[in-house]
Amino acid sequence: MSPRIKRIGLMTSGGDSPGMNAAIRAVTRACAYYHVECFGFKRGFQGMIENDYMELNARSVRNIIQLGGTILQSARSKEFLTEEGRVKAAANIKKLGIDAMILIGGDGTFKGGQVLFKEHGIPVLGVPGTIDNDIFGTQYTIGYDTALNTVVEAIDKIRDTASSHNRLFFVEVMGRDAGFIALNSGIGAGAEEILIPEENLGLDRLLNSLERSRRSGKTSSIVVVSEGDKIGKNVFELADYVKENLPYYDAKVTVLGHIQRGGSPTCFDRVLASRMCVKAVELLLDGQHNVMVGMMNNQIEACDLDKALKDKPTINKELLRISDILST
Ligand code: F6P
Repeated sequence: MSPRIKRIGLMTSGGDSPGMNAAIRAVTRACAYYHVECFGFKRGFQGMIENDYMELNARSVRNIIQLGGTILQSARSKEFLTEEGRVKAAANIKKLGIDAMILIGGDGTFKGGQVLFKEHGIPVLGVPGTIDNDIFGTQYTIGYDTALNTVVEAIDKIRDTASSHNRLFFVEVMGRDAGFIALNSGIGAGAEEILIPEENLGLDRLLNSLERSRRSGKTSSIVVVSEGDKIGKNVFELADYVKENLPYYDAKVTVLGHIQRGGSPTCFDRVLASRMCVKAVELLLDGQHNVMVGMMNNQIEACDLDKALKDKPTINKELLRISDILST
């Protein structure tokens, strides 16, 4: 154990994700276990700038493992993008005697951490918390599994009404520029088509597929559209385009939006957050920093933070093939 680490700072930043509270609990309890002081900054980088923090102990994180959101709250701080903002943040961290910061969030959060280290020498460690699952170096991010279950539950409900009215539904799901949520929830919900940014199948392919579905006797259909899909139209224009070209379809649009970010985390996300965050504290105590914890083949491993930011995870194209086969 490194004798240098006596105080760890912690924050959640960027889009919140279910399981962040389980992560806060795990960092805090692991710190308590190893006799390290733990300070939580509120609203991500903004709380560092404003010196808005709370001391956390084992009891201050009781009864939060099951809660969605984050008790530390989150933000996308514009001020931290300025040099002046970062100087304030770094000064506050140093004044408080923080030896290293654990940053729970997505790639924007990790980029902020990288800058904090490069400009001010503050050691950082990343924990991937985002519903998008778009981080290299981990097969799962905290919150992704819960979001998938939320989406599947919503689409099941949409399917009920789609089938009662013989309708076609376009369901837009989150994922910024990544199709992980769309691809996996689409298969889980039995969607007829899945549109993701990683694979532009084109409008003609979509029309042909919907026409084929109709001819094969399907009376209602679900198309899951990732918000970052590059087909060239937003989901509303897409529905209008299909209605114009296939007038027998009564097409509707549902944008699931931020409900995907809320809710009680699944057991998977709670366990993932717990495992990642105990490892995060142990890595810091071991003298490591500027790494991200990730889960690969059910093992929690450290991945170089620069690499996690430089590389992009790839989608499993086999899932597209499965979806094609099963939507016959
Ligand atoms: O990164 C998580 C995410 O939920 C994306 O899927 C989405 O594009 C974005 O955040 C929305 O961010 P905001 O809540 O700031 O609008």
